Amino acid sequence: MEIKIIGLLSLAFSLIYLSILRLSTAFTPVDNYLINCGSSTNVTVDNRLFTGDLTGPGSVYLSSSGKSISLTNQNPSSNSAPLSRTARVFLSASSYEFNIKKTGTHLVRLYFSPFTTSQSYNLNNANFSVSANGFLLLSNFDIRYTVLKEFILMVNDVNLELSFVPSSQSGFAFVNAIEVFSAPEDLMFQYVAKSIGPNGVEEFKNLSSQILETVHRINVGGSKLTPFNDTLWRIWIPDEDFLVLKSAAKTVSTTHAPNYEKDGANREIAPDNVYMTAQQLNRDNLNADAVFNITWDFPVSSEPARYFIRLHFCDIVSRSLNQLYFNVFINGFAAYKDLDLSALTFNLLASPYYIDFVVGSDNSGVVRISVGPSDLSSSLRKDAILNGVEIMKMVNFYVVSETRPEKRSVWVLVGSVVGGFAFLCLVGLAVLLILRGRRQKQKPKPVESMGWTPLRVYGGSSQSRLSEGTAFPSPGPYGYLGLRIPFGEIQLATSNFDQNLIIGSGGFGMVYKGVLRDTTKVAVKRGVPGSRQGLPEFQSELTVLSKIRHRHLVSLVGYCEEQSEMILVYEFVEKGPLKNHLYGSGLTPLSWKQRLEICIGAARGLHYLHTGSAQGIIHRDIKSANILLDENCVAKVADFGLSRSGPCINETHVSTGVKGSFGYLDPEYFRTQQLTDKSDVYSFGVVLFEVLCARPAVDPLLPREQVNLAEWAIQWQKKGLLEQIIDPFLMGKIKPSSLKKIGETAEKCVAECGVDRPTIGDVLWNLEYALQLQETGRPRLSHEVSDITSSELPGPRVVPQVPSSHVRIEGDDSDGISNITTSRVFSQLMTKEGR
Ligand SMILES: *[C@@H]1O[C@H](CO)[C@@H](O)[C@H](O)[C@H]1NC(C)=O
Ligand SMILES: *[C@@H]1O[C@H](CO)[C@@H](O)[C@H](O)[C@H]1NC(C)=O
Ligand SMILES: *[C@@H]1O[C@H](CO)[C@@H](O)[C@H](O)[C@H]1NC(C)=O
Ligand SMILES: *[C@@H]1O[C@H](CO)[C@@H](O)[C@H](O)[C@H]1NC(C)=O
Ligand SMILES: *[C@@H]1O[C@H](CO)[C@@H](O)[C@H](O)[C@H]1NC(C)=O
Repeated sequence: MEIKIIGLLSLAFSLIYLSILRLSTAFTPVDNYLINCGSSTNVTVDNRLFTGDLTGPGSVYLSSSGKSISLTNQNPSSNSAPLSRTARVFLSASSYEFNIKKTGTHLVRLYFSPFTTSQSYNLNNANFSVSANGFLLLSNFDIRYTVLKEFILMVNDVNLELSFVPSSQSGFAFVNAIEVFSAPEDLMFQYVAKSIGPNGVEEFKNLSSQILETVHRINVGGSKLTPFNDTLWRIWIPDEDFLVLKSAAKTVSTTHAPNYEKDGANREIAPDNVYMTAQQLNRDNLNADAVFNITWDFPVSSEPARYFIRLHFCDIVSRSLNQLYFNVFINGFAAYKDLDLSALTFNLLASPYYIDFVVGSDNSGVVRISVGPSDLSSSLRKDAILNGVEIMKMVNFYVVSETRPEKRSVWVLVGSVVGGFAFLCLVGLAVLLILRGRRQKQKPKPVESMGWTPLRVYGGSSQSRLSEGTAFPSPGPYGYLGLRIPFGEIQLATSNFDQNLIIGSGGFGMVYKGVLRDTTKVAVKRGVPGSRQGLPEFQSELTVLSKIRHRHLVSLVGYCEEQSEMILVYEFVEKGPLKNHLYGSGLTPLSWKQRLEICIGAARGLHYLHTGSAQGIIHRDIKSANILLDENCVAKVADFGLSRSGPCINETHVSTGVKGSFGYLDPEYFRTQQLTDKSDVYSFGVVLFEVLCARPAVDPLLPREQVNLAEWAIQWQKKGLLEQIIDPFLMGKIKPSSLKKIGETAEKCVAECGVDRPTIGDVLWNLEYALQLQETGRPRLSHEVSDITSSELPGPRVVPQVPSSHVRIEGDDSDGISNITTSRVFSQLMTKEGR
């Protein structure tokens, strides 16, 4: 009887105990400063109290030197976050100073949410630097959007001084809210990370001297986690948008709480939810022994930089130990071979584990992470998983890149959510203390005895060295398996090639609209079944397309090559060709600004083709019919059926049979048969005139001197009378300076000789400039213009370069996409002399 009662009691206790574990956070930071800047009131966000800095206790952190004022947003939108309604505006170098009780790793979060006040402060114009104890965190930072910047840094001082220094240009700096709190001791910097690069895997020991800026924090296979869900008030976002090929991955989740174990991860490293979901290989409709990778591309700055990458794992897919062996690749380099989680977690399944890496970025603008089965995996279980990813930039680590990096500015927006965490104190302090005591015991042993420092893991193993990296490694022995789509899947997507879904056709095949099972809308280009004559071209197009991925290029979703079928599957682009929006279809005319933005997008795509990948790709068929618009009128260059890799370093051109479209064809190329990237520039110049004049590049029905648009427009441009032939809809709507810029740019593009034409990078810069002239009417200052060289691109336009892997359809706008993939290019794909 007594025994029973004790049993019940202890059962009850352990239930309470478990629920506490699930619901509460055991972590209370020693240093914890939460400031609602520019405000006299306290604000509670997710149960965390942000104190105002105008009066009361919050004001003591603001140092008295420096001049600052507080501003209140007079017209906050009703759903604006409470912390974004006020800001402290610094008119001279100023700082906050926080007393640090516990030296070590700290998190610093800065909230920026620009607004405009009647006091003639437009916070969008702020341009400033922020430093922490003298280390630059943000330099010449200008903010157009609400952003949350998070930094992780070691503080070994008794104070942390956050300084805000306005640039001479803007004259002021601002911040809406600040968080400074001490991190759990074992969060960071405890161990040596694995440095991944051309020399294989090395140790990276200097982590603690690094300041890290969070760029991505991803809950792979799961949902968005808000500060409310996270032990350290972090934000985790889903991985779906970063998957290079969605159909390669399948989400998996468990309802069981992870088995935390002392040498692995703990709840502060990442919350339960991160470890309870994952992506695994999607084997639906595939043979059990098929081997392929899951790959994610995470956009990062394309300036040379070093990134700290933490990968989270928890084997929630295996039923028994030592079944799962897989490889991890970062930027194409083998980062971890034959990873066996059961061995690392001392024979416990579903036990969270994380591994830290350091990698130098190439100039591709992405960090590419892949996981795939290892040779050691049993034939029954060829799988690979990933549960979470954190990518942080090493702010103070300057890399001297050996390969000259492109000076392209891709700005990565850090997720911007204001938040906090509800500290759910269900049972009181006592239980909390018990928990903390327990956690104390769990603290990892010192590094020397740890099981997973790189030396131990790699000790004696022959780490394979991949050949020195191009941004995109060529396919392995298995080909592009990761992109392969089973024929049955394509039949399903197109209702078995339903005639009603045909959106383009040609002598050699059809283009269908389709919907994959994961609801991705696609365009399916199918060669005539059984006709293998186009095989080399098919493979060649696949090679080009699988190498490229860019916001402004239509991307390949997959391909199928089985049962004598050759099929390419592309993302579906909602609004169809630019051409249809210019003339002949009765669609609403685009504004001048929209047209400029579309041209800028297309130029960006083209610039990426020319310079972004290892060898440079020449499109060869730039025209308004091949520039597609998505639902937001974002331009995407399509149809790489003719494109080919550009000249190698020691060649200056490619000799090839002349291909292209009448009216857009570079006359020099036509004469000499020598293809260079300037041929694309010529065609792009014709597109610019087309956009301006809203008429076809060639119109045989017009009087003879008007038939060829480029020739005709040049005559007017030379006379300085271009405005007389522009689209009547645009009459009076283009600022003369903007028109002049575009006229000059287009004229240079269609210059007779390639050498006289600008590079696409120059064209891009001029288009940006024309847009700026249109918007502000203000030319840039002369010094801003003069130091632009052809290799330099315009300043950052804040475009998050998130790969848009598919496009959703709203209405049935099928007319708009009827030429989405022209038959001619398809026929090129299928003919012998296509390349
Ligand atoms: C804001 O919070 C601080 C710290 O809890 C408190 O001392 C102060 O009185 C509060 N101020 C207001 C205006 O409520
Ligand atoms: C910000 O200020 C710096 C230094 O004065 C300047 O180089 C940069 O162009 C400015 N940025 C913007 C967007 O005005
Ligand atoms: C590591 O840090 C030490 C001291 O901070 C420095 O001397 C050394 O150069 C650093 N090593 C690297 C590879 O950055
Ligand atoms: C995360 O927190 C939100 C409330 O902010 C809640 O609605 C959601 O269900 C939580 N998600 C998970 C996975 O716990
Ligand atoms: C997986 O990706 C790595 C790195 O990009 C590559 O070397 C390997 O061949 C890929 N494996 C397969 C099966 O495609």
